[in-house]
Amino acid sequence: MTEFEHASIVLCPAGPMLLRGKHEVLDADGKVHHTVRPVSAVCMCGGSAIKPWCDGTHRLLAARARDNDEPNAG
Ligand code: FES
Repeated sequence: MTEFEHASIVLCPAGPMLLRGKHEVLDADGKVHHTVRPVSAVCMCGGSAIKPWCDGTHRLLAARARDNDEPNAG
């Protein structure tokens, strides 16, 4: 791998961006949010009710998209 023990930022497919360690996250309104957990999940789908953090809504959105893609959905 690299000189690092592990990645400090992990991009989850169709999910959040995981931040390891201390970070400052600047939201669209210019507000700074400080990470307070060893691992923090930043919403990348836009559906979270607690932005900038992930609240798991991406799973619901993915399930809805799958349902809508089924031929007999309706
Ligand atoms: S990525 Fe999880 S709610 Fe948006």
